[in-house]
Amino acid sequence: DSMLKWQRTSFHFQPQKNWMNDPDAPLYYKGWYHLFYQYNPDSAVWGNITWGHAVSRDLIHWLYLPVAMVPDHWYDANGVWTGSATFVSTDKLLVLYTGSTTNSVQVQNLAFPADLSDPLLIDWVKSESNPVLVPPPGIGLKDFRDPTTAWLVQSDMSWRVAIGSKNDSDDHAGIVLVYRTKDFLSYELLPGVMHQVNGTGMWECVDFFPVSTTADVGLDTSTPAGDGVKHVVKVSLDDDKHDYYAIGTYDAVKDTWRPDDEEMDVGIGLRVDYGKYYASKSFYDEKKQRRVLWGWVGETDSELTDLRKGWASVQTIPRMVLFDYKTGSNLLQWPVEEVESLRLTSKNFHAIKLPPGSLVPLNLTSATQLDILAEFDVEDSSLVEAMEADVGYNCSTSGGAAGRGVLGPFGLIVLADENLSELTSVYFYIAKGVDGGLSTFFCQDGLR
Ligand code: FRU
Repeated sequence: DSMLKWQRTSFHFQPQKNWMNDPDAPLYYKGWYHLFYQYNPDSAVWGNITWGHAVSRDLIHWLYLPVAMVPDHWYDANGVWTGSATFVSTDKLLVLYTGSTTNSVQVQNLAFPADLSDPLLIDWVKSESNPVLVPPPGIGLKDFRDPTTAWLVQSDMSWRVAIGSKNDSDDHAGIVLVYRTKDFLSYELLPGVMHQVNGTGMWECVDFFPVSTTADVGLDTSTPAGDGVKHVVKVSLDDDKHDYYAIGTYDAVKDTWRPDDEEMDVGIGLRVDYGKYYASKSFYDEKKQRRVLWGWVGETDSELTDLRKGWASVQTIPRMVLFDYKTGSNLLQWPVEEVESLRLTSKNFHAIKLPPGSLVPLNLTSATQLDILAEFDVEDSSLVEAMEADVGYNCSTSGGAAGRGVLGPFGLIVLADENLSELTSVYFYIAKGVDGGLSTFFCQDGLR
């Protein structure tokens, strides 16, 4: 037990003890980054959900603050669930969050910082008008949660807020509902849905944000669609507990969004991350003009182990997100540059050859935490061979790191024991995609 207690991370954010899940309302205000998170103050398993709160100057070193909101009204008695922050103007901030009511109905609630002159935003006040939104006709009482950051639409100078749901009468479709509001107190549900993908089930933690297709900068959530701007829809699939996204075009007048590639639609195409990762949420970081993405990394151990160790889950190192304008089809993610401040020593290895089937030990002094930067060059002849091989690779279904192919897996074995009977592989795989071109997959395998 003492061993388990000791194995906490010092890189990734985690509360001092107990359970954490989704990141909530990430934001930057008066020199401080704020992170709220789904938090059970009483136990290392999910329940009694409050909003934990922490602040940082650099997104890496965090200070714990008192819990920001607890279940203390009928409209959130069963939990202060996930939500997002919106700057209505530079000095006016609000959050919308889901409350699970005394009857476990999911409603949306509004809250404000009690004192905007406090850069730490310690005290929060819930609106007297709560709940501001209840499930609309046709939507399940427990299928209506996780409001997004709102965005301002210029044509009518009104805000939009998206909320994920599902439509079981229409082939178990995941859907995004959009509401229009001017004051965040009264809302109008826009007709139809902004987007729907059949068979994908409940969409949790919808994130909706613009990306620049011409420059390496992040965009504020209210940046209108137009030349050089595309919009990303990201959802967390309740059915398979993974985050998916697609890049597409948003039409604020018709209130619709279409993916660039219908075959790679939300929930059936690209994943945000191929490891243990869920409920991600991004925000626009005004300080460094970048979009920063958080994601919840849950445990793969049993609840019993979590209870014994007294904590569960970490958040990812925040990542900068950019549109990959080289491929035009996906997002690029990179840990925020501030992470480099955690590097105490470094060791470099160069020109290591990786012939098929080889295993090359890297001679490191012992360390419990590593930040690994690796670059691989692939020989042209191998690329030709991969082109000639069979189509089809998939991180989740191709048997993990043990499944050998022409150009993969190659990468790193981390957290291995001496006999390599237990190991975790983080690896790449290059294979021919359905379109006939080569695709690179980035996977991890925790099977052993
Ligand atoms: C996602 C989620 C959200 C919900 C919250 C409750 O992990 O289920 O949909 O708001 O967690 O903690």
